[in-house]
Amino acid sequence: MVETGADCKFAPLSLESIYMDLFEKIGSLAKRRGFIYPGSEIYGGLTGTWDYGPLGSELKRNIKNEFWKTMVQEREDVVGLDAAIIMNPKVWEASGHLESFSDPLVECKKCHHRFRSDQLEGDKCPDCGGELTSPKQFNLMVETYLGVIEGEKQKTYLRGEITQGVHVNFKNVLSSTRVKIPFGVAQIGKAFRNEITPGGLTFRSREFEQMELQYYVKPDMKESMKVFEEWKERRMNWYLSLGMKKGNLRFKEHGKDELAHYAKAAFDIEFKAGDEWKEMEGIHHRGDWDVRRHQEYSGVDMAYFDEEAKEKYLPFIIETSGGVDRATLFFLMNGYEEEEVNGETRTVLRLHPKLAPYKAAVFPLLANKPKLVELAEKIAGDLRKDMMIAWDARGNIGKRYRAQDEAGTPFCVTVDFDSLEKGDVTVRDRDTMKQERVSISELKGRLADRLNG
Ligand code: GAP
Repeated sequence: MVETGADCKFAPLSLESIYMDLFEKIGSLAKRRGFIYPGSEIYGGLTGTWDYGPLGSELKRNIKNEFWKTMVQEREDVVGLDAAIIMNPKVWEASGHLESFSDPLVECKKCHHRFRSDQLEGDKCPDCGGELTSPKQFNLMVETYLGVIEGEKQKTYLRGEITQGVHVNFKNVLSSTRVKIPFGVAQIGKAFRNEITPGGLTFRSREFEQMELQYYVKPDMKESMKVFEEWKERRMNWYLSLGMKKGNLRFKEHGKDELAHYAKAAFDIEFKAGDEWKEMEGIHHRGDWDVRRHQEYSGVDMAYFDEEAKEKYLPFIIETSGGVDRATLFFLMNGYEEEEVNGETRTVLRLHPKLAPYKAAVFPLLANKPKLVELAEKIAGDLRKDMMIAWDARGNIGKRYRAQDEAGTPFCVTVDFDSLEKGDVTVRDRDTMKQERVSISELKGRLADRLNG
């Protein structure tokens, strides 16, 4: 049976209901404005899957572009990679995912709803109070089958993390580039997990995207912990530089009993979603787990020869692993504000200009005045060569401003009758709502300065 519904009916209410208010508001805005839609909605949805609309796909792409710029383009010691989603199933034996990548599942004996036992507060069913089965480990890997002959199809998996595509290519990257340890490989891509309790909008999905760095260092515990600390700070600063409020972020250390099967040490960067802190990104010390296991299972020598130290070793790996969908959701939450303006509620998305889907909207003051429309179209067309531009000619200007505030558009440009005579336009700022006249010849440069500044 296909599970359907925008938010899984099996999702436990205990955790998510606490901050439902903010999730509901963002869910409603996301759907209304075209950020995020439930996956396959016209067929009743498919639990744990989501589609990004016109605004959401821009926001998500901007987040990924900023990640790539900071983590690859601006770093001499990091290269990029884009590995296959479906890999030889032996990869997942070696990585430990087939054995250990599981969550504890319990089922209510009365209503048969299923829960993750580590997320429950009591020992009874949170939906009907019924008795629960004892926990069983449930593997999260999503199976798929390749091949054309029925009965001879090969069982394989959709990757449960994007990480392994990097580690299996460790030797390829070494032999095809000039990198030397310490160096990193960054990747962005889809991962799949058969989550027991998908929910909280995109927070826990079954198909999602990750943005990761695998950073190879000398196998020296003290030195590698220094690098670990450096990456922790860099990743935190990255979110802050894109407008995350300081009070909305914190580090949370994993206790010994919480560490994933591959990790020697781990910290999460958490986001304050309403009343609850939720994981957004993990920084993990993976030791030499991945290269050692792939060496063992593939029979290929994965050792690195350090020419300076004249020694051969399996490197340690420091990983930063962020969720693109979680970052997208949390940037929406971080930017969401409601405020009173002239006795009315204004909803505004204070997204960082680098992340905003549209950088500016262009309006002709009146849609039925061809001269205004013509000039506005000319201005919009010129700006479009450099940035994403929205167009709106419907309704009154106040309503158009409100619509762009909700979409997170930093600037609105209005073409009026004075524009025809004086060659200038009104530029209105999303955050301050202040308006100023700017000459059309300077408009692009002024917008670019304010977007980048
Ligand atoms: N390679 C390490 C790794 O995958 P993880 O902590 O399991 O580590 C990293 O996942 C990040 O991926 C998380 O911090 C989260 O942002 C995102 N993520 C994990 N599971 C997710 C899910 N079911 N839905 C959405 N994002 C998820």
